Amino acid sequence: MTSHAWNFMTSFLTYETNKSVVVKSWSVGIINRLVQLLIISYFVGYVFLYERAYQVADTAIESSVITKVKGFGKINSKIMDVADYIHPPQGEGVFSIITNIITTDNQVQGTCPEKDTKITGVCNTPVGYCEIEGWCPAEDDKKNTTTMAEFVNFTIFIKNSIRFPLFNVSRGNIQGDNFKCRYDKLTDSFCPIFRVGYILNELQQDVEKLASEGGEIGIKVEWICNLDEALDSCVPRYSFTKLNSPFEKNKVSKGYNFRFAKYYKALDGTDFRTLHKAFAVRFEVMVTGTARKFSLIPTVINVMAALTSIGMGTVLCDLVLLNCIKGAAQYKEKKFEEVSEAMIRAALTPRNTCSSDSLPLCNLRETGKIS
Ligand SMILES: *[C@@H]1O[C@H](CO)[C@@H](O)[C@H](O)[C@H]1NC(C)=O
Ligand SMILES: *[C@@H]1O[C@H](CO)[C@@H](O)[C@H](O)[C@H]1NC(C)=O
Ligand SMILES: *[C@@H]1O[C@H](CO)[C@@H](O)[C@H](O)[C@H]1NC(C)=O
Repeated sequence: MTSHAWNFMTSFLTYETNKSVVVKSWSVGIINRLVQLLIISYFVGYVFLYERAYQVADTAIESSVITKVKGFGKINSKIMDVADYIHPPQGEGVFSIITNIITTDNQVQGTCPEKDTKITGVCNTPVGYCEIEGWCPAEDDKKNTTTMAEFVNFTIFIKNSIRFPLFNVSRGNIQGDNFKCRYDKLTDSFCPIFRVGYILNELQQDVEKLASEGGEIGIKVEWICNLDEALDSCVPRYSFTKLNSPFEKNKVSKGYNFRFAKYYKALDGTDFRTLHKAFAVRFEVMVTGTARKFSLIPTVINVMAALTSIGMGTVLCDLVLLNCIKGAAQYKEKKFEEVSEAMIRAALTPRNTCSSDSLPLCNLRETGKIS
């Protein structure tokens, strides 16, 4: 029993280490080093420098946008100011500048012929029109109008404040108090005031067409921040995009328009209204962002992954060594030492019975000096 325990102890208290075979071959050596170089440059160049795997990223940006438009224009020879052409008036991140209006004055409830040739009501009039019941006279949206060409000179001021919740970092897009600047991607790319004409020019929009049919334009505010650098380098970048480009070829829903009415009461108590069909350029301020900062955990994980992957080189070299090159069988013999049971048994039966007092003689006999 005690001897069993002793045997267990001696077999447990051991250390195993791998036996290595050093292959002195140029071709395999070159392949080995090349594969290692490839893996190291992948990790250093792509994973660490390009993907910045040593940082954690926060993409859940919190943002608030306030806009303010300035300028005067004329639609159908009526002067329009901000209160007339901006919808909705609250100065949100999404707003429309009305550039063309078809007005239908003095509409009252009643029955009247439909101007549109589409048949929507009872067709009992001899002239070929159908009669509708509703607000009369009906709207004639083929009417000639003059659009507000001056809107290219309007300015849009954007105030944007953001926060990266993971790092508790807040930033704003206004530096200093220079409110005379105009955004220009080359000369003044941090200015938060945009001339509409500049945006349309950047997007190569047909201004006439846009003014008469309406459209949708996106102003992108992108915050890419590396918080390992100075906080002052965390600034927004602006760009513009046509939001209705997927529908440009579409005949049905080109442009952008909406209707609204103003209601009045006559002295005799009947209601009447002025209907407006407004064609507008809809602006949408879109804020996106990513902040990155050094973090120990992803760094350690990625360094470990890199070190482990360098060992992958041996898999490829083994494949070449044991299958593809001259003398592969010999290399295989060296790498995989075969041990059979017969060999073990031979090793276990003592060849010489040497007692401890005749040990020197035994050694001599084994080495063949005497027989
Ligand atoms: C609208 O103007 C065009 C030319 O600008 C003219 O040919 C057309 O007759 C006008 N239509 C109406 C209804 O006045
Ligand atoms: C825009 O402003 C410029 C200079 O102030 C002026 O020359 C131009 O006529 C204006 N454009 C429109 C369409 O009013
Ligand atoms: C976030 O930062 C502000 C100052 O920039 C500080 O007053 C506030 O306590 C911070 N909040 C947290 C949760 O650390």
